[in-house]
Parts: sequence; C-alpha cells; structure tokens
Amino acid sequence: MAEVLPAEEAEILLSKRVQEMVLDGEEPPALYICRDGKDTDDHSDSSTVSPVPVIDIGLVSSSATLTDICILELEKLRSALSSWGCFQAIGHGIPSSLLDEMRKVAKEFFKQPVAEKKKIAKTVAEFEGYGADPAPEEGQPLDWSDRIVLEVYPQDNKNLNLWPEKPESFRDILEEYTMRIKMLAEVTSRVLAKSLNLHQDCFLDELGDQATITARFNYYSCCQRPDLVLGLKPHSDVSAFTIVLQDEPGLQIRKDDRWFTVPKNPDALVFILGDHMEIMTNGIFKSPVHRVLSNLQMERISIAMFYNPPADKEIGPRDDLVDEENPRLFKKVKDYVTTYFQYYQRGQRAIHTAQV
Ligand code: OGA
Ligand code: NI
Repeated sequence: MAEVLPAEEAEILLSKRVQEMVLDGEEPPALYICRDGKDTDDHSDSSTVSPVPVIDIGLVSSSATLTDICILELEKLRSALSSWGCFQAIGHGIPSSLLDEMRKVAKEFFKQPVAEKKKIAKTVAEFEGYGADPAPEEGQPLDWSDRIVLEVYPQDNKNLNLWPEKPESFRDILEEYTMRIKMLAEVTSRVLAKSLNLHQDCFLDELGDQATITARFNYYSCCQRPDLVLGLKPHSDVSAFTIVLQDEPGLQIRKDDRWFTVPKNPDALVFILGDHMEIMTNGIFKSPVHRVLSNLQMERISIAMFYNPPADKEIGPRDDLVDEENPRLFKKVKDYVTTYFQYYQRGQRAIHTAQV
C-alpha cells in the first residue's frame, strides 16, 4: 500500500499554494501532474446543451395537493437521482443577491495577500482552515486548487478562530447563507423522500436534528497546462448530499463512462448526492463521481456545502426500501467517514466497503 508523505515534507511541499505559483508564472510541479495531456475525454459532452437535469424545487416542495406538474417534476427528480445522482436546482428560494454576495466574499478572500490568508492556515494533517487537502498518499497527485474548509453548523462545531476576518462581511454572509442552506437541505430531504413514496419526514427524522454542515470554498486558479492537471480529482462525496454554488463551468459529472460539464447558471445550485444517501436509499439514488477541470484563462470559484449525518450515527438502507425484489445492497455503517477518507487519500472510492 502507498505510504502517506512524511508530514514535514508535505508541509513544505504544500505551503506554496497554487495561486502563488500561478502569480509567479510557474508551471505545475510534478506532484500535481495526473494526466498525459492527451485526454480526449475532457469535453465528451460537445453538444451545446448539457443534459444535467434541471429541477424546480419550489414546484416539488409545495405542501398543497400535488398537481400533475408537481408529480411530473417529482418523477423527474427521482429519475435524475437514480441515473445522474445530481441535478441543477432552481426555484430553491435563496435570493440571487445572496448567491452573488457569497461568490463575491469568496473571491475577495482569495485575492488577498498570502499573509492575510495564512492567518487561518491549516497544517496538512488538518481539515479545517485555509490550504490544500490533507496530503494524499505517496504517488497520488495534488489538486490544482486552494481551499478554505469551515464547520458551519451546528453552532458548537464552529471554530470561529478559523473564520476569515477579511473581507469584513465574510462571516455575516456565511452565517446567513448557512441558515438558508440548512432550510433548503431540509426541504430537499422531504422532497427526496416524497419522490420515493416514503413518508416525507423519514430522512429528516434520521438526520435532521443532528445533521452537520461543512463549507468548502474552492478557488481554482488558471493553469498554463490544464491538460496535465485537475482542479479537483475524481471522487464521490461522503455527505448525505452536497449543494454547490459555482461561478464559471468546470465541474464535471461522470455518467455512462463519459464526463458531462455542469453548465453555468448563476441562479442555480448544483445538488450532488453523497455516499451516505446512496446507502440510505439502498442504491436507488446514486452518489456520482465528479471532478473539476482546470482552465487556461478562467479562474473559478465554488462553494460546496456538505450536509452530513451526525458522526456517531449508524446509517443503513431504509427497511421500507428493501424487499424480496429489492434485496439489501448495503450493510449498516458507522463512522463511514473515516473509511471514506482513507480511500479518498488513495484516490479511490469507499462505497464498496459498505456493500453486503
Ligand atoms: C467538492 C466538489 C465541486 C466544485 O468540493 O467536493 O466536488 O465545483 N466541488 O468545486
Ligand atoms: Ni465533491
């Protein structure tokens, strides 16, 4: 098995951030190179309209009697999550001015001098703070991007000493966005249940009170050689689900052995199903592999909000989704997050460890 890079080596290696290398006009060092420059797969969705489904959350979340349009939209949602594991959410109720402000404070943070950003720097062993991912195992490439990871919900999980003080509005905007995302996550949990003909509160009863939210701000610098690196390596998310706000395109979803780019839509949020929800739905909903491409000219910002089951909770397929025709595909898992990250650091998926 591959070794983890010695901490000191990794610390030195990762202390110069991608954004600094780009400002210094450097090409990607060897440890970032993960592709041979001949990847014809980058733009397999050459059609002008990407088929990533668009779902109107407002339409499917109304508590009034379901109209035919709502029923059709719910079927579309179920189908999207069973095949893509992802969709673009519109009608989600978060004002576009708040989405703009989130993109703005994220961009402003990364534009600051290194010294300001390093006030909240993390070590390579830590998850929370500014920097890169924890160092992957030896032989695994590094991502061509910089991040801030922050626990944002519940209140007790927050480490405010790691929340940026500049730009000044960062904290207030993130607080407000977190509360909006929490509400949206709850609405979406109900909608997911309804689409499977389950009691609408069933996922919330299991996660709701104790669910946690982690925010990951991703800054994808331009790259002289986008054909050699990736902004974010292929992975699935460990969350129940993830809600991503992006500015420019770059995120790709793997489906039918092809990559599909999620198109730009300033008002939409990208919903990505995570491994935990694939397990809870006994595999009916899929946790998709996704990645982020680097771009020659265009930098990119995204903010991923991970809606996670409580850490100590045992998670398994719902009994009402298992019967003779639909045998149980997954075991009950506890602390799957630890297993997930062990595999993540090797560039692998972990969900097979939960299969029966
Ligand atoms: C992630 C992720 C997508 C993006 O942070 O897990 O997949 O568009 N982000 O940055
Ligand atoms: Ni992801």
